[in-house]
Amino acid sequence: MALKLNHCMPSSQPLSSRPNHRLRSPKFFMASTLGSGLKTVENGKKPYMPPREVHVQVTHTMPPQKIEIFKSMEDWAEKNILVHLKPVEKCWQPQDFLPDPASEGFDEQVRELRERAKEIPDDYFVVLVGDMITEEALPTYQTMLNTLDGVRDETGASLTSWAVWTRAWTAEENRHGDLLNKYLYLSGRVDMRQIEKTTQYLIGSGMDPRTENNPYLGFIYTSFQERATFISHGNTARLAKDHGDLKLAQICGTIASDEKRHETAYTKIVEKLFEIDPDGTVMAFADMMRKKISMPAHLMFDGQDDNLFKHYSEVAQRLGVYTAKDYADILEFLVGRWKVEKLTGLSGEGRRAQDYVCGLPSRIRRLEERAQGQAKESPTIPFSWIFNRKVKL
Ligand SMILES: [Fe+2]
Ligand SMILES: [Fe+2]
Repeated sequence: MALKLNHCMPSSQPLSSRPNHRLRSPKFFMASTLGSGLKTVENGKKPYMPPREVHVQVTHTMPPQKIEIFKSMEDWAEKNILVHLKPVEKCWQPQDFLPDPASEGFDEQVRELRERAKEIPDDYFVVLVGDMITEEALPTYQTMLNTLDGVRDETGASLTSWAVWTRAWTAEENRHGDLLNKYLYLSGRVDMRQIEKTTQYLIGSGMDPRTENNPYLGFIYTSFQERATFISHGNTARLAKDHGDLKLAQICGTIASDEKRHETAYTKIVEKLFEIDPDGTVMAFADMMRKKISMPAHLMFDGQDDNLFKHYSEVAQRLGVYTAKDYADILEFLVGRWKVEKLTGLSGEGRRAQDYVCGLPSRIRRLEERAQGQAKESPTIPFSWIFNRKVKL
């Protein structure tokens, strides 16, 4: 079922004029991609060209003097943020959840894994593959964090708390894609080559979160995203359990708990920004929400389906893995977490931003309900990730 909320939502930037953009699912509030990427690839003129984003690129919107705020938070970040990293020796590794290729029982364990996977429907695999590809585009997310003024890793091995966090966060996240990738490979249920191509395209395309090198926007974005991934991996865990695969449920649940820990760290950074600079932070929050939180894999492409991300998101919505309601719930959670309603002493613009974000969750829900009332019968379409078997959107 495709909800049609996105075009109802306030937006500061025009989307592409392609007619099917009006049909995009609302839950990801994502930016558009141009179809020219596909044509360019086919024509062979510029084979390296990925699908393109259409937003105007806006850079360095944080006033330079505010960089001092982040420098002054160095010690605070060491004591309050780095503590949310787990020492490597205490971390789980993908191998803990997978058949051991060096053991006698390897063949048998793989057979059992494949038997369990047979009980899981195709639509679940579409969502799990999309989640895995999202995790596998990790180079893009480390790059995104290192675009942020005042907190970027200036050398690649910088010892600032911000840089230490970003590298260790990346290293923790790296296990997520690894684990899901190896599980999916062993399951025998999916077209690994198509999946690998999609990952290559996606990393080549990057992402456009519209955070403008601005760490206020960047950390609001990551707070939202960590919670979104916590919710979606939690839901794939729940569904795996429903399908009788407790080992896959454990895999997804373990990843979800990492995301929760990361959410705690990023929301703490923004909480501190609210304390130091409430006006600037509430305006950044409103700005980010007006632009909508695009999902990290919104530029996804498999060489075939020009609307792959939209289709994957619609399956995720139908299965209840990540929905328009989740988007509103996350926003409401963050408004409460940062006590936005209780902020006082704001400027006029700050108060308008406060009113906007506090009223937004109920506006999104109203639009969602209206869209659900108008929902039409969903089509069934092929996904290359599962050998072009068809899945209902
Ligand atoms: Fe992750
Ligand atoms: Fe994460």
